[in-house]
Amino acid sequence: MKKGVLFSVCFFVIAAFLVGCGAKKDDTIKVAVAGPMTGSIAKMGSDFKNGATIAVEEWNAKGGVLGKKIEIVIGDDASDPKQAVAVANKLVNGGMAGIVGHFNSSCSIPASEVYNRAGIPMITPASTNPQLTDRGLKGVFRICGRDDQQGKVGAEFVKGKLNSKKVAVIHDKTTYGQGLADEFKKNLSAATEVVYYGGVTIGDKDFKSVLTSVKEKKPEIIYFGGVFPEAGLMVKQAREIGLSSPFMSGDGTIDPKFIEIAGEKAAEGTYLSFSPDPKNIPAAQAFIEKYKAKFGELGPYSIYAYDAMNALLTGIKEAGSADGKPVTDKLHALEFSGALGKYRFTEKGDIAGSPYVIWITKNGKFEEHWKP
Ligand code: ALA
Repeated sequence: MKKGVLFSVCFFVIAAFLVGCGAKKDDTIKVAVAGPMTGSIAKMGSDFKNGATIAVEEWNAKGGVLGKKIEIVIGDDASDPKQAVAVANKLVNGGMAGIVGHFNSSCSIPASEVYNRAGIPMITPASTNPQLTDRGLKGVFRICGRDDQQGKVGAEFVKGKLNSKKVAVIHDKTTYGQGLADEFKKNLSAATEVVYYGGVTIGDKDFKSVLTSVKEKKPEIIYFGGVFPEAGLMVKQAREIGLSSPFMSGDGTIDPKFIEIAGEKAAEGTYLSFSPDPKNIPAAQAFIEKYKAKFGELGPYSIYAYDAMNALLTGIKEAGSADGKPVTDKLHALEFSGALGKYRFTEKGDIAGSPYVIWITKNGKFEEHWKP
């Protein structure tokens, strides 16, 4: 008899637990934000998280999606490709309806293989390397530009506006950094000589020997394909050894942290390719104000994370389902109005059109400088 009672109690406890789990699963739709939440560029992960959180809060305030609350799950890849794969597997097993992420192309590319196998759509706010969408994975989207567009605009500026005849090209040996530097170099004309080309290692703190070799070549401009921690130190150390040529870099460098690391004086006059200033985009103003009130100054990709999360949730809503295949199909057909304007994904999963312009660092701030 005692045994029977114990059995019944266990049965009801287990049943209640299963019903409880089921209820939770059925009541919420889980979406992930993945990127570098720790490490030297954790600022970028927190920009992603902040932007996407605002989107989810807005949807939840209006009742969620498909009648369910949206739950945001954070995945930390620490900018490490192996960790990105591990995180991707964890997110897939955690039942995500879609992923906003990752930041680094070197993380997004291997992680996208995991999401693709599981049939879960991913939209990166920031990964610009062409390979991400050139491999024909149907559920892989980006809401930013591509480095073949970004590198080309950089080269057009150096050829057509600066009229530079001698250029040094340095990269950080990553998929993104080297890829961008190579696109830039490929788009220069015969009139511009590449007097130095070489790589540095992410995480290094002393670039003076590379910079000394660059200085001997007397370049009129130094192009760096990489991210702000290395870019900042490089510009700072260049000035310390008396190398005064202006620097130019891309979207990975245009963050206030670059100026903080380099120092305002050393960073002055650095050119950066990025999308146009959202301050001049009427549709972005409500988001900018909300973000500033809640989190402070916008990072370069905060607004992209907001738009990516909104695109994903719109895809789920319009598909009438949180299942990967219908959401992916819907994203391919979507005409979507975001804070940065209207989006339509191409067959590959890129956005239609190239958004790049050239910015300059002036008095410790970035400002738009030149349009192709
Ligand atoms: N655009 C940079 C990358 O693709 C952030 O890695």
